[in-house]
Amino acid sequence: MASETHNEKIRVGIIGLGFGGESALKGFRLLPNVDVVALAGLEEDRLAYLGDTYDIPTSSRYRDYKDLLANEQLDAVSVGVPNALHAPIAIAALERGLHVLCEKPLARNSEEAASMVESATKANRVLQVVFNHRERNDVQTLKRYIDEGKLGNIYYAKAYWMRRRGIPGAGSWFVNKNMAGGGPLIDLGVHVLDMTLYLLQEPSVLTVSASTYNELGSNGVGFDPNARKSGSGHGYEVEDLATAFLRLSNGATMLLETSWATHSSAQDDYGIVLYGTEGGADIRVKNYNTENTLTIYTDIAGVPSEITPHVRGGQFHNAVTKEFAERIAGGNWSLYNGSDGLRRARIIDACYTSALQGREVLLETEA
Ligand SMILES: NC(=O)c1ccc[n+]([C@@H]2O[C@H](COP(=O)([O-])OP(=O)(O)OC[C@H]3O[C@@H](n4cnc5c(N)ncnc54)[C@H](O)[C@@H]3O)[C@@H](O)[C@H]2O)c1
Repeated sequence: MASETHNEKIRVGIIGLGFGGESALKGFRLLPNVDVVALAGLEEDRLAYLGDTYDIPTSSRYRDYKDLLANEQLDAVSVGVPNALHAPIAIAALERGLHVLCEKPLARNSEEAASMVESATKANRVLQVVFNHRERNDVQTLKRYIDEGKLGNIYYAKAYWMRRRGIPGAGSWFVNKNMAGGGPLIDLGVHVLDMTLYLLQEPSVLTVSASTYNELGSNGVGFDPNARKSGSGHGYEVEDLATAFLRLSNGATMLLETSWATHSSAQDDYGIVLYGTEGGADIRVKNYNTENTLTIYTDIAGVPSEITPHVRGGQFHNAVTKEFAERIAGGNWSLYNGSDGLRRARIIDACYTSALQGREVLLETEA
């Protein structure tokens, strides 16, 4: 096992100027051992705004990521671009000896994700996926509670992210199958899948039975009028609702439901429900709120009782960028090759295959 370390300041380049890129940039700026030294993205106004706001010299602002990689002396890059570009950019950076922080999903599919993990392993560099929602304080509190054994054996989980009118921008890259790899399942589902597997201590997924639907998006219904995502003119090609039933290696089962657009009471709601032998838990998030979101259900002296921990807030991208910098500084880079992102990509692939073939799909091997 390699045991390299990085003792100097970590020089980071940011690729992508949307929410993903700016969130990573803000997180890195909080860290004393990191310098954000370069930016790349196609929108001139965003490049000027972020460059001016965060003191990036004009000579280190690029339109295309290839110029950033060719011209800058970097230790790491953050990749916050349309999903189709995750693999080519991450692999190009890893081959140059850079560490890579990549937005979720790791890639459009597990084949691309596997090639990224292989490149990270070969280059002996950190490849880390941004799973920022698990850094909410309700999730972190519940994680500690579960690890203390307080819910007992967790045998059933429900995870969902549901919107009523939340398709991210008419014509944007998000709705194009080739650019995005899929719809709400790969976009939002990957977050709640990640949080649930994390809480359940990473069981393997053995089988998946899923269905996908495209009933509203392709009829022009369900778009978020306030979404500011890049790309234009793309027709609606991805699912607008996905539902999946997963069998896990520890005997538990999980129900996963995700949608960008439904005729339902949802606004922008996500959550996780867990049933264990000693207790249950319910995280309910409405419009990204972080307060009063966690409830624990248990029996106290034989009486059904609810506990509502006083949690709020969370570190989100700031925790992810901090962990990434710590991993680079700390060495043992081969431990962090993106395989958790690959495991999630394999599960999502299996969901799409199951939906296409109308049958249950067995997952073969775990990364
Ligand atoms: N973790 C989260 O909470 C979260 C939230 C939103 C988006 N994301 C992820 O972040 C990624 C980007 O999403 P977004 O919402 O920021 O999208 P966006 O459309 O707002 O931004 C995409 C950016 O990529 C840039 N880009 C495209 N091609 C490029 C190239 N060749 N060179 C350099 N830059 C290029 C665009 O110019 C744009 O700045 C996606 O993978 C998405 O899934 C994650």
